[in-house]
Amino acid sequence: MKLKLSKTGKIVIAFSILLIGIIILLIYYHQNNNGSVHKMESNEFYDIKIDYDKTGIKSLDEKITKFVSSKEKDFIDTVDNSGQVQFSKYNLIINVKNSKYEDIDNIRATSYAYIGGAHYTREDKSLVYDRVNKKYLDFLSILNTDFEEIKPLILEEIYEYAKENDIMLNDEWVQEGTNYSEKNYEHFALTEDGLSISFPPYQIASWADGEISINISYDKLEGILKDEYLGESKTSIDAIIKPGKRDLEQFEGKKLIAFTFDDGPNTKTTSRLLDGIQEYNARVTFFVLGSRVDANKDVLKRAYEEGNQIGSHTFNHLNLFLLSDDEVLSEVNATNEVVDKALGVRPTLLRPAYANINGHIKDLANMHIINWNVDTEDWKLKDRNLIKDKILEDAHDGAIVLLHDIYTESVEGALMAMEELEKENYAFVTIEEMVQLRGVKLDYDTTYYSFMKE
Ligand code: NI
Repeated sequence: MKLKLSKTGKIVIAFSILLIGIIILLIYYHQNNNGSVHKMESNEFYDIKIDYDKTGIKSLDEKITKFVSSKEKDFIDTVDNSGQVQFSKYNLIINVKNSKYEDIDNIRATSYAYIGGAHYTREDKSLVYDRVNKKYLDFLSILNTDFEEIKPLILEEIYEYAKENDIMLNDEWVQEGTNYSEKNYEHFALTEDGLSISFPPYQIASWADGEISINISYDKLEGILKDEYLGESKTSIDAIIKPGKRDLEQFEGKKLIAFTFDDGPNTKTTSRLLDGIQEYNARVTFFVLGSRVDANKDVLKRAYEEGNQIGSHTFNHLNLFLLSDDEVLSEVNATNEVVDKALGVRPTLLRPAYANINGHIKDLANMHIINWNVDTEDWKLKDRNLIKDKILEDAHDGAIVLLHDIYTESVEGALMAMEELEKENYAFVTIEEMVQLRGVKLDYDTTYYSFMKE
């Protein structure tokens, strides 16, 4: 059939096609602008993995894209110029985190490039954007006062952080790294918890000590921060009572044993354990799964407030040997973040699922690796008496005992063993207390199984 169209008809059809085309383009443009970018590229020489979400603010997205492309270009240039003599595959991971608080967008981009050598080359970029005033904020622009007014608060938080994380700081290095310069204060963010400032490795401490991130709550910043940036101070984290340190002298002449509990927290069974250990003046270490933290937050807080130590057992209990570098980082970081959010403190200890760890994963995780030397096999025994017997059989000074606080029989067995061990002059300590009592300085290369006397 032949279709005859009038001139007007042709024009109408042509316009309709044009209009549909424009709509499709607009939809595409919109998605592209607000979507996320996931790029994976792999060849025989290297792997590249890039992930980020767009903010929808054009100039901000352009800046992020510029950072990402320049790191990618540097990486590929380096690989090309290396003559491709490699001992292992080169690797580039770029993550961009985007957190929004009220009208502020906080962007933090981190690029990890492995191009041979001992460890990753890391580069960081932060952007803080004020949506109301449509401008980028630098550190001085959020202050109401001279920089010198805020410096004591910054130093106080840094030393507090070092104390909590058992980091030895070099005062001169800290002074130099905290003097005002645009570069030294590039990495800050305005969040619901306050002003956070990050010092990447090497700025105020060694590579091994990792990035040092501090948070100054808004109530301390009244008068120092411009009013428009003094957010509502959240009380949830402030409400946490910091656990008192125990006087370690009381353990002099005692045998030490560290009970550790994996795979929790669990509101019911962990609570029972916390009730039970009171009787034995015991404190223990929990290696928690990040994925279980939110649903069992109260019992985790209680455990921490009562002086027990909280370590990480990764987010999803996956075998780290089977994961990509990016996935390993996310298992580790997501757990640290969810614990930090609940407790206001980041775990420094990591117990990988199935004890699977190697030098490369240690390098990525940058945490102290704690395994065990007394395996109760509680998950298999499922009987409090058998679990108690197994602990008593293998207990010794400096031992680290593996248990799981998600099983009633494990919790009861542990408490029954404590009752006996107390009579044998044992003290029940956290890993942190054990380390201090044994005079050990934890490093990031060793996997620790016990802390026996030298
Ligand atoms: Ni486990």
